[in-house]
Amino acid sequence: MSKPLYKFPKDFLWGASTSSHQVEGGTYNQWTVWELENAAHQAKTAEDRLGWLPNWKDIASQATDPSNYVSGEAVDHYNRYKEDFDMAKGLGLNAFRFSIEWSRIEPEEGKWDEAAIEHYRTYIQELKKRGLEPFLNLWHMTNPVWFEDKGGFMERKNIVYFLRFAATIMEELGSELNYVLILNEPNIYAWFSYKTGEWPAPKHSTLAFARAYLNLVSVHRQTYKILKASNPKIQFSSAPQLVINEPKDPKNLIHQLGAWSANIGNNWLWLWATHSCNDFIAYNNYFKNYMSGLGTKGIDNPKTPLNDMGWYMEPDSAAEMAMALQKRFPDMPIYITESGVADAKDARRQWWIEENMKALSQAIEQGANIKGYIHWSLLDNFEWQHGWWPKFGLLEVDRAKGMKRTPRKSTLWWASELKKLTGVDKAR
Ligand code: BGC
Repeated sequence: MSKPLYKFPKDFLWGASTSSHQVEGGTYNQWTVWELENAAHQAKTAEDRLGWLPNWKDIASQATDPSNYVSGEAVDHYNRYKEDFDMAKGLGLNAFRFSIEWSRIEPEEGKWDEAAIEHYRTYIQELKKRGLEPFLNLWHMTNPVWFEDKGGFMERKNIVYFLRFAATIMEELGSELNYVLILNEPNIYAWFSYKTGEWPAPKHSTLAFARAYLNLVSVHRQTYKILKASNPKIQFSSAPQLVINEPKDPKNLIHQLGAWSANIGNNWLWLWATHSCNDFIAYNNYFKNYMSGLGTKGIDNPKTPLNDMGWYMEPDSAAEMAMALQKRFPDMPIYITESGVADAKDARRQWWIEENMKALSQAIEQGANIKGYIHWSLLDNFEWQHGWWPKFGLLEVDRAKGMKRTPRKSTLWWASELKKLTGVDKAR
């Protein structure tokens, strides 16, 4: 077998990520309700929101169809997870990130669904049987409807419900785990749900955003303290979305101020507020911003291509962020818990992954303590307010033809690299 393209430590974790609502199917939470109420509106207004995309013609028929905006059976991962784990293992991965769906575990306030808990227990055992390290996420942006009806994370008094859920899951499943993420992208959730109103709740208020954000900081800190005391061996963190913000014109003071404030607001605030309650740093990274004012993005970077959702792709930004983190938090191991590209034609995925690997291996050589890279996503997934047209999966899923999973060409390329790195040399 030829040598791997890039050097990585032997115990490096190579994973793929999913989240319950985006792949499982048959969930009933605040998103399910919002989707059904808003699908027709989303379809009707699609061109206003997305008509500027260079690939608009390719996505128009899906984006203007209300059924695109309903998660429904998703990709039936709840029933097909063993097949999906076999495929993940066959790709040479050694880690897998997933979330527990709170609305399945506690469908009514205080009523616990034993069968759902057993499901996730078996799920974790099946991962471990295949040598896939479980990276469990307690919350990936979905709430039971009863919790949302009480005001969700806007209300401080509701934090106890999340603490009770988290403690129950850890009591049941903790002994099987080494890594637990408490919250996924609390910063993005607070922004889209409470400031821009693009996601359920939905609210359009800076005050509501600030309240939800601060409550999520408390959720993280309180959950960490409780769970760490009873599970000292488990490594805990949360995964914000971190973005490098640069001034569009490095010499322009206003641009500099825009970048500085965006870096503080989006990145450092969360990490400063939660630092004493993290065992490692986890972050999701998809793009870089070029700021031309306070909260104003300039033209991003016309030198790099756009993904299908119109995000400029700069694959080395995850490593750049790792270097910045290493300086500020030198004692912390670093895991990239999401990085990926919406690419229906599979034209850029291989490039994205290879550039990421190149930049990460260089950053490790320069001293960054990066311990894992978890790609978003294993499967084509329900992409929140955009629905089904964005394609992030290492495995393409044909929802019209029996949910058939097929590795993309770029995935097969990555698998051949991964097998050299993780020592798995045979696809199942
Ligand atoms: C989220 C995922 C989402 C991905 C791509 C992240 O913001 O954690 O749920 O699918 O980005 O947009």
